[in-house]
Amino acid sequence: MSGEPDIRLVAFAGSTREQSFNKALIRVAAIAAEEAGAEVSLIDLRDHPLPIYDGDLEAREGLPRPCLELRELVKSSAGLLIATPEYNGFFPPVLKNALDWISRPHGEDGLCACYAGKVVGLLGASPGRLGALRAVTVLRQQMAHLGCIVLPDVVTLPAAHEIVSDPAGITDERTLRRVRRLSRATVELARRVARDRPPDSGSAEGREGAGRP
Ligand SMILES: Cc1cc2nc3c(=O)[nH]c(=O)nc-3n(C[C@H](O)[C@H](O)[C@H](O)COP(=O)(O)O)c2cc1C
Repeated sequence: MSGEPDIRLVAFAGSTREQSFNKALIRVAAIAAEEAGAEVSLIDLRDHPLPIYDGDLEAREGLPRPCLELRELVKSSAGLLIATPEYNGFFPPVLKNALDWISRPHGEDGLCACYAGKVVGLLGASPGRLGALRAVTVLRQQMAHLGCIVLPDVVTLPAAHEIVSDPAGITDERTLRRVRRLSRATVELARRVARDRPPDSGSAEGREGAGRP
């Protein structure tokens, strides 16, 4: 795709681990989204350290600076690419905690406002046989609950330790094809949604009808 990027996506892994399989996977997804014409902010949750969510801390000090940075990135994007590990059948607490902090009301923005209508492509990798499929399945539910539009197709990577190598990352052609397809679909849907989005759909007012506590 030639020309200036017309939309921006935020991409991150739900792992802070240096040699994370999911970081390798999200790097491939981010490059593929750029090739499909998006600008991509590839971030590492380790660079945005957040305390475990605590309502008293929020009441006392407001949203922590890393949370404000993350929510601004998400709010100003057309969508997200997330690659999640699986921890005991679920996605990891570092990811849940970041999603929860970002969901908090702030200024004019109501609860979950910065997620409204964002298009989300999901991926997951694990050394196990299911390739984080269970975590991806609950993450789909989570993102939908936050008000995102989640692509029906996902990419899961079983036996990730056999596919991801250091420092080459992922070179397996079949995996690369699957990831590129998902990234392309995410960019295309995000572009369509961004084009049709009413100007105030991310505002507090826009979320008031959503029936959330
Ligand atoms: C607390 C914990 C629970 C785990 N539970 C699962 C699991 O349910 N299914 C699975 O496939 N792998 C599980 N694993 C293994 C992770 O998939 C593996 O550590 C993986 O490398 C984490 O992703 P990352 O490489 O992106 O950091 C678990 C690991 C930890 C630390």
